[in-house]
Amino acid sequence: METTFLMIKPRAVADGLVGEIIAALEDGGFAIAGVASRRLTVEEASGLYEAHVGKPFFGALVEFMTSGVSIGILLNAPDAIAALRRLVGATKPSEAEPGTIRARFGKDLQQNAVHACDSAERVERESGFYFGDCPRAVVG
Ligand code: PPS
Repeated sequence: METTFLMIKPRAVADGLVGEIIAALEDGGFAIAGVASRRLTVEEASGLYEAHVGKPFFGALVEFMTSGVSIGILLNAPDAIAALRRLVGATKPSEAEPGTIRARFGKDLQQNAVHACDSAERVERESGFYFGDCPRAVVG
């Protein structure tokens, strides 16, 4: 069993897609281990997307991620990190496999409904922006 972290982005929250996205996660075999909603600060969003500092879209990405409430979810499953990336699909919704979360709920490259971690280190770091020092039942 492994833990991974997913974030539902502000557009999807504002559009009322949280329930359907959580249902897709549970139907996909993931158990919910924690849910936290918050509006990120500019500093937090910049930290979350530190890998993209300096890229032309970085400013717009931070503005978007701080524009409203987003939701952080800890998820448990066997091989959870890789399995969630498969269920989420390609970054660009128009290139995501039919049936994946981004194909179903994403609008465009920026408003692609959700973000999913790609390593255990990123799970630890990114979930910290939502859960802070709260005890997290991270397994793996
Ligand atoms: S991935 O999935 O992380 O490997 O893909 P990557 O291309 O590294 O992710 C880029 C994240 O930046 C967001 N974003 C954009 N990317 C490219 N071009 C533009 N214009 C752009 N605007 C926003 C994109 O949604 C990815 O965010 P996440 O949260 O990782 O999906």
